[in-house]
Amino acid sequence: MDALEAIMTTRAIRRFTDEPVADEDLWTCLRAAQQAPSGGNVQPTRYLVVTDPDLRAEVGKLYRSAFTRYTEVAPERTDAAGVRIERSANHLAEHLATVPVIVFFLMPRLPSLVQGIDIGPVHASVYPAVQNFCLAARALGLGTTLTTVIRVHQAETLDLLGVPDRWEIAALVPLGHPAGKFSVAARRDVAELTSFNRWS
Ligand SMILES: Cc1cc2nc3c(=O)[nH]c(=O)nc-3n(C[C@H](O)[C@H](O)[C@H](O)COP(=O)(O)O)c2cc1C
Repeated sequence: MDALEAIMTTRAIRRFTDEPVADEDLWTCLRAAQQAPSGGNVQPTRYLVVTDPDLRAEVGKLYRSAFTRYTEVAPERTDAAGVRIERSANHLAEHLATVPVIVFFLMPRLPSLVQGIDIGPVHASVYPAVQNFCLAARALGLGTTLTTVIRVHQAETLDLLGVPDRWEIAALVPLGHPAGKFSVAARRDVAELTSFNRWS
């Protein structure tokens, strides 16, 4: 698939079929993730792939609870797009356990100051990997969504999965065959958000 087409049609997919994900496809996505840039090429990301049905059920419970907690405090959105996102996000929260593959992107808990100077946050070296993963999935016809709400229950989730304390969750990405079709998502006009040479 053309790279630009993959980029333009990669969007949040939260409804999946029961079809399993081929191991080969999963590894293609992971290799694409690992190919992403990182500061000093330190490659800080660790990937924790959850496929075991019992563990997925436990992660699903934690995710649902985290999402419920979030909806209690999130500002209410009444616009059509906001309502659609909420309905779709709620569907994922209710069905995460049934998604065939759940990938955690983990990052080390490190300060972004080195010798007192700001060299950029660690997550700047992790999210490119997440997006590469999602783009590779799209190229293979697989759906993903970058999610972070599980951080509401981060400690319990890391404990469940046996992850040492020095790691934190950058993202949880469900991976599966989409129930719907890929499309180009609505976005603000980039020309209105761009200035040249000086801020305007
Ligand atoms: C940093 C970040 C955190 C997100 N967290 C969640 C999440 O916890 N749950 C969820 O369902 N979607 C989450 N999303 C997905 C966004 O809601 C989605 O990317 C946005 O609504 C645009 O969707 P679209 O590309 O389909 O238009 C997150 C996206 C980003 C970039």
